[in-house]
Amino acid sequence: MVDEGFKVWQRVLAQGSRITATSLRVLFDQDLTRGERFSRALGNENDHIFVDFSKQLIDQQALDELLVLAKDLQIIEQFTEMCNGLKINLTEQQAALHTALRADIKTSVIVDGVEVVAEVHSERKALRRFVDAVRSDKKFKKIVNIGIGGSDLGPALIYDALFNNYQSFVECAFVANIDAHEIKSVLSKCVAAETLFVVCSKSFNTVETLSNARIAKQWLAEKLGVDIDSKVLSEHFVVVSAYPDRAAKSGVVAANSFKIWPWVGGRYSISSAMSLAPMLAFGADVFDEFLAGMRAVDDQMQKSPPENNLPLILGLIDVWNCSVLGRTSQAFVPYAHQLKLLPSYLQQLMMESNGKSVQVDGEPTSMRTSPVVWGAVGTNAQHAFFQMLHQGTDVVPVEFIGFAQPTHNEISAHDTLVANMFAQSKALAFGRSLTEIKSENSDDENSQHRVMPGNRPSTTVLASGLTARTLGSLIAMYEHRVFVQGVVFGINSFDQWGVELGKTLATEISSLLTKPAENSQNLRDSQDASTRGLINWYRLHRGNR
Ligand code: F6P
Repeated sequence: MVDEGFKVWQRVLAQGSRITATSLRVLFDQDLTRGERFSRALGNENDHIFVDFSKQLIDQQALDELLVLAKDLQIIEQFTEMCNGLKINLTEQQAALHTALRADIKTSVIVDGVEVVAEVHSERKALRRFVDAVRSDKKFKKIVNIGIGGSDLGPALIYDALFNNYQSFVECAFVANIDAHEIKSVLSKCVAAETLFVVCSKSFNTVETLSNARIAKQWLAEKLGVDIDSKVLSEHFVVVSAYPDRAAKSGVVAANSFKIWPWVGGRYSISSAMSLAPMLAFGADVFDEFLAGMRAVDDQMQKSPPENNLPLILGLIDVWNCSVLGRTSQAFVPYAHQLKLLPSYLQQLMMESNGKSVQVDGEPTSMRTSPVVWGAVGTNAQHAFFQMLHQGTDVVPVEFIGFAQPTHNEISAHDTLVANMFAQSKALAFGRSLTEIKSENSDDENSQHRVMPGNRPSTTVLASGLTARTLGSLIAMYEHRVFVQGVVFGINSFDQWGVELGKTLATEISSLLTKPAENSQNLRDSQDASTRGLINWYRLHRGNR
């Protein structure tokens, strides 16, 4: 950060020191309108997505300083530059254009001389034709998505989230892990003639995906009783990739293939053809609704004034919790069983984007960057990790996500679910003091164990129903919060070099595992004492397979 920026940041830190001397109880007592003052609508007002961040340990003065920081860093201007195609992913010399994937057709974004929005829309038309054809043909009743990371978590999240709200035309299954137990288990429930494999890989270099595609192809050939090179197999494969030529070279021959572009990050690819599986399940119109929800939040982020710009404000609060107040983790707890995959999705989105300690200029960061992102659905989580959230030594900001309208008619169960969500945020914020406990039961010898410290921050996101549009808005909101954090941290949120070394080492180690147990020069030279021991132990016990 430059000098002026340094001063602004120091002022934000000073707000952090000031606020830790107060508490949520005091803040709520001081301002009876706090609930209203610290809540906003997400996206379009008519979308009915209400976000209450009044239970965050923040006040107007602190929020104002954070907004000054946003202005000083030109966060919105930088966001607009990203949307316009600036190559902000400097280490890979790429633009980061996930917003172009849902931009209105009239939008002009040019990258390397190409009108990308026009290209996106033409690819979407081709996708729609394919989706409509598969759905009317009715040959395929099962879709197996093969992909990992962003090529799995996005489509799986959409499918799971919308399954109860929309009629699913086909059943989808998702295979990611190179642990073949996963694909074997999925294939055991498939009928070959009725199964379509969607192989998603931006790079088409990913070992997990290549291995699972190979297993799927072999299984299909065996079940259909055809040769492994038979053309019949290609009818059961669709490829989604930025490098479709690599698919064929790796043995995945597909009758249909759809493209994504090098300027779409894997974890930002949910609005692309990577979501073909849920598109086949629910239809292209439902996916268009999902994109419209994202677009509403893209607009809000670009156009609304900072004090009403919810994605910006929430991103700043994320920075506040992590880098100012020093919170090392952040939990996401959807009180909606259909969103059970959301914590995993957010883990990749947030931790792969911002889990870095070198700034864009190559210098080490001076502030804490990505928190550990975790979570699970409520109320299940209440019976697992909430004890720690309420009384543990670490303070974990929590994000609650809930809905007013369930898709079932068990209204009393739903009311209880939502009551639990509200109760948890209340208990976290206000706790229960020793005095309060004693006033209820002065003879209780274990009173001190029942003290709830409170002052634990949370945000609550409430929407009317889990529609495709709402889901799109939520995902776009999280994407933009990650962007805001990345700018403040001064890092590139769009590369992921940290995952590369492990991949290279795995290739090297793979070649050593099948040799007989030994302490050869090669093994001694290439491996440390621990890894050598592990390799030898594995070699001894794997048997001669
Ligand atoms: O984990 C690294 C990563 O590159 C992710 O960013 C990506 O979503 C995943 O692997 C899968 O990559 P691909 O789509 O290229 O197979």
